[in-house]
Amino acid sequence: MKERLDRVLAHLGLGTRKEVGRLIRAGEVRVDGMVVRDRGFKLDPEAARIELRGEPLHYARHFYVLLYKPAGVITATRSDSEETVLDLLPNDLWRDDLRPVGRLDRDTEGLLLLTTHGTLLHRLTHPRWKVAKVYYAELAADLPADATRRFAAGIAGFAPAGLEVLSPRAARVTLREGKYHQVRRMFAALGSPVAYLLREGFGPLELQGLEPGGARSLEPREVGALLKAVDLG
Ligand code: URA
Repeated sequence: MKERLDRVLAHLGLGTRKEVGRLIRAGEVRVDGMVVRDRGFKLDPEAARIELRGEPLHYARHFYVLLYKPAGVITATRSDSEETVLDLLPNDLWRDDLRPVGRLDRDTEGLLLLTTHGTLLHRLTHPRWKVAKVYYAELAADLPADATRRFAAGIAGFAPAGLEVLSPRAARVTLREGKYHQVRRMFAALGSPVAYLLREGFGPLELQGLEPGGARSLEPREVGALLKAVDLG
């Protein structure tokens, strides 16, 4: 499929459409050996040989980034006043068209997937596919004795969820929906408000190995498992 040159370069992480437009106008980009100065030039990025200042660029259709979101950062792509999850990515992982898959509240930490793959994003966040999300929660008041039973029955109008009690004030929750402030609202309904919330797992993905604020590309086997989880693999 043919695409505009500025779009292809932005997708490869070389800057915003405006920034890559400057590179193109300056004659820094070659396509199949020819300098192209028209940012709207159409090419098939999977077939064309694209070079920036003589260095070949390696095209990939989609990108997948796993971020350990720290507290205090918002799940958005742009903000004039606050730090966003995209601001945390190092240059080699940053892409103009990366989008977060679902949301974590400002004060929630943990696993956040970002991808350029629109269909995958849509399915991973759609209730139909029931992708599991695992959270570790610390609570400001002791859990009641019937907490696990009430989560399993469906609390505060939410679907049944798994609750593993780790101590009177700590638990692990497994959900298959993703509604606004869901975990906080579920624990509030028990009378044990959340004091700390960390997402440890999302579908086949796990947080292990990353530090808060750290990010990495998914391994091919992780991409394969994700696609399979929502019938795209
Ligand atoms: N549930 C919440 O309450 N907050 C999150 O960030 C994620 C799930």
